[in-house]
Amino acid sequence: MIAAKTDLVRVTSRRLAWASKTESIATMATEEDECMGSVKAQLAKLFEVSLKVTVPNEPDVEPLIAACTGKFGDYQCNNAMGLWSKIKGKGTQFRGPPAVGEAIKNNLPTSEMIESCSVAGPGFVNVVLSKSWMAKSIQKMLSEGIDTWAPMPPVKKAVVDFSSPNIAKEMHVGHLRSTIIGDTLARMLEFSKVEVLRRNHVGDWGTQFGMLIEFLFEKFPNFEDATETAIGDLQAFYKSSKQRFDADPAFKERAQQAVVRLQGGEDKYRRAWAQICEISRTEFHKVYKRLGVHLEEKGESFYNPYIPGVIEALTNQGLVEESQGARVIFIEGSNIPLIVVKSDGGFNYASTDMAALWYRLNEEKAEWIIYVTDVGQQQHFDMVFKAAKRAGWLPHSDSSYLKASHVGFGLVLGEDGKRFRTRNTEVVRLVDLLDEAKSRSKAALIERGKGEEWTEDEIESTAEAVGYGAVKYADLKNNRLTNYTFNFDQMLNDKGNTAVYLLYAHARICSIIRRSGKDVEELKNKGTLVLGHKDERDLGLHLLQFPEVVEEACTNLLPNVLCDYLYNLSEIFSKFYSNPECKVVGSDMETSRLLLCEATAVVMRKCFNLLGITPIYKI
Ligand code: ARG
Repeated sequence: MIAAKTDLVRVTSRRLAWASKTESIATMATEEDECMGSVKAQLAKLFEVSLKVTVPNEPDVEPLIAACTGKFGDYQCNNAMGLWSKIKGKGTQFRGPPAVGEAIKNNLPTSEMIESCSVAGPGFVNVVLSKSWMAKSIQKMLSEGIDTWAPMPPVKKAVVDFSSPNIAKEMHVGHLRSTIIGDTLARMLEFSKVEVLRRNHVGDWGTQFGMLIEFLFEKFPNFEDATETAIGDLQAFYKSSKQRFDADPAFKERAQQAVVRLQGGEDKYRRAWAQICEISRTEFHKVYKRLGVHLEEKGESFYNPYIPGVIEALTNQGLVEESQGARVIFIEGSNIPLIVVKSDGGFNYASTDMAALWYRLNEEKAEWIIYVTDVGQQQHFDMVFKAAKRAGWLPHSDSSYLKASHVGFGLVLGEDGKRFRTRNTEVVRLVDLLDEAKSRSKAALIERGKGEEWTEDEIESTAEAVGYGAVKYADLKNNRLTNYTFNFDQMLNDKGNTAVYLLYAHARICSIIRRSGKDVEELKNKGTLVLGHKDERDLGLHLLQFPEVVEEACTNLLPNVLCDYLYNLSEIFSKFYSNPECKVVGSDMETSRLLLCEATAVVMRKCFNLLGITPIYKI
């Protein structure tokens, strides 16, 4: 019992170490020092103590700590300038920002993590970390595992609403982006010990189902036999049914009746609908399987029963108004209202999203709800979130959790700079795309002579890891808001910022360790890591920055931040490894350097894991 309680306290204190820009970390310095979070968070704690002593009359000054690449230090504290403008004229002993910086430096508690401090320019306080502390921290991670470097956001449960294609319609590259980005965000949160509900909000409801069902009855009198193979392409099926709908008024009439009967819950219609959904699902699943992405479907239809109640509650709060026959919620700062009941009395995309948000907050008790769609839907989500704030479901400020976030992304372009399409078909079949990435990387392996060296299984699994990894990484490395051009040659290049280059870099590190003939597990316990050479220290510093980088990528929902980190890591590693002064195998620093190699490989693997990429161990 007591042990459990202590655990809880520990978790709470670690969660406080999640130093978001907006949350005060005032409580942190008083917490026990046991689990302290990232280097940045640990320094923030020390500077917080110093700031309290330096300017006792300025409460709640949040330490501004940043990593720096300058020659004066590893991190800097940037509070002096801002503080000066606050206190000048208030009769303090300070005569300008450099003096404030000097005092911040002098009041810093001693800590084994800091080697030296200096004040530069207008008052930046530069910190040089202690090499031995750095080495010890890395070695601790090696023996206790990379999970000890996980961020601890103050959130217990999150919903990530991603992928979310529409039944009987194309699952296009936009959905591929959503799937890849959403999966990474979910993985980062899961790593941070947040319970994540991975929601596939599939479009499985709407008037188009009347038409599809009627067409299904026409084509397949025994509609339950209508399997995927019988129907063939569900998108083509959709097209022909639409043609039929537009051309034949009697069919149209029946289709409209079918919607009513489906919504009324008539068994035969329900079963036909379920049949169509199932066929689509099989298609979607092929993509998820290749990508190794796990999702839990709760489609639009799931929220149907909740819509009337939610709208009634919003109406009782006085939020829903009549406008041109429809019922709407007016949103401050938006020239169009959010339509929650159409003029024909039906519900729409927004009604469903209001009900889904209500459900996620109240039934599922999620504290952070994240939606991953193209930027085109930004306004929709903006209105939904604002409506939820008006209703008091969410606090007005986004600075703390509970909150909802829209993760928008740009278009995937073809070589011609237009929306990505293949030559003969209108849309790119995602499965084909992934298969092509795999077969191209397989061809490259055969060309390198791996056909003779490796088993068929090894070739297959490596081709898959590299091919799918390349597609994912090419997407994730860009700031998600920008459009990017889909190019197989570029993404499968083994040089530059590509998954191929990174996967090979990792495999090379593994082979260095193998070649040494040493047992790393044993070295972890018996050996000692030292960061004697500058290139070793640079690498060590970058490794230590992993926790704060994941934290940033996760807080700001930006996978590219993690990709940049990974790419830099492999560059910094190359610099170390190619330096003759840092010879690894056979040098008298072999043990320490092998440990550094291992730490690099461990961090790289965690990055791959968070990006949904399978690492390879040999090339
Ligand atoms: N099905 C939608 C589309 O294809 C995406 C759904 C996103 N999620 C949501 N809760 N609206 O555009």
